[in-house]
Amino acid sequence: MEAAGAEKPIYRASTTAPVNIAVIKYWGKRDPKLNLPTNSSLSVSLDQADLRTHTTASCSSSYSSPDTLTLNSKPESLEGARPQACLSSLRALRSELEEKDPSLPKLSTLPLRIVSSNNFPTAAGLASSAAGFAALIRAIADLYELPQDPTTLSLIARQGSGSACRSLLGGYVAWDHGTEADGSDSKARLVAPKSHWPSMRALILVASHEKKDVSSTAGMQTTVQTSQLFKTRAEVVVPAAMEAMEKAIAEKDFESFAKVTMRDSDSFHATCLDTTPPIFYMNDTSRAAIRAVENLNKRAGKIIAAYTFDAGPNAVIYYLHENREAVVGPFKRALGEKEGWLGQQGAAIGYAEIAQEDE
Ligand code: DP6
Repeated sequence: MEAAGAEKPIYRASTTAPVNIAVIKYWGKRDPKLNLPTNSSLSVSLDQADLRTHTTASCSSSYSSPDTLTLNSKPESLEGARPQACLSSLRALRSELEEKDPSLPKLSTLPLRIVSSNNFPTAAGLASSAAGFAALIRAIADLYELPQDPTTLSLIARQGSGSACRSLLGGYVAWDHGTEADGSDSKARLVAPKSHWPSMRALILVASHEKKDVSSTAGMQTTVQTSQLFKTRAEVVVPAAMEAMEKAIAEKDFESFAKVTMRDSDSFHATCLDTTPPIFYMNDTSRAAIRAVENLNKRAGKIIAAYTFDAGPNAVIYYLHENREAVVGPFKRALGEKEGWLGQQGAAIGYAEIAQEDE
């Protein structure tokens, strides 16, 4: 926290948070109000040089109410129940500190100004809410000088957007569904730091920059209400996949990591299709990407690439650095030399490393 200006000081803190891409997907809430998931999930946080949200939080008695948020230079609302839940949890923690130590400035009552930006085009259609909420929580926690560790802060980020709780940590991160009714054990856990398996890479194929027509929040609620496959996925499929995935990561076994990743993506999208009305997140480009991964694995004679799709058509393909040419080469040739974020033609390609554990 840094204060500037003598009369009405402005207190300020800045931070960044990584985008994470789940290899075992969170889909379904057992408690929508507390944002508690039906199943556990596991993701990989991507390197912040490639994909991250940068956020500055400031507060001052010279600011007028209400709190404001600017995202990529545009004003955004903080009025929804979810951002409000996050802000009041953070203020409550600050206010506890102020009660214990009356010499501290009373920041908990001051209006907040939050300014956020992504280092990747929002138009790329990549899930940015996870990094966005994680950076928001972390910036305000730093501004308030809260002593809570990232795992404890993940309880707050979860209320903003479920997947955001995993972006409080780098590396390989689980979100345990928890069993407590108040959600106190539904939080992020470090499965392994980036340094444990540093050659993991993610190739991102942007199949569309359009905003998805069914939001994750709405889609998963309809799935919970109508899908027959959902119960089996939550109770049988995911618990077994979580165990297999943690083992694959512990043993740095890419073939198992890849098989479980692709199976879980397929299971998640099958559950979406089993929803009434059915939800289609993948498009023809997504299906072509799946075929391309199958073909390059066949050519290699072993599994060297794994696809996964979130609630949208963009593919994320995990591979190990030593297989870069065999995995990235065919996509580069198919898409032309469109390296970087050249999303104009409906397909673009970008590379991401894995974020450090302390990010
Ligand atoms: C398919 O975290 O966006 O990306 O909690 O309602 O904000 P809310 O949902 P959100 O859902 C993410 C769904 C997913 C899978 C995942 O990231 O685990």
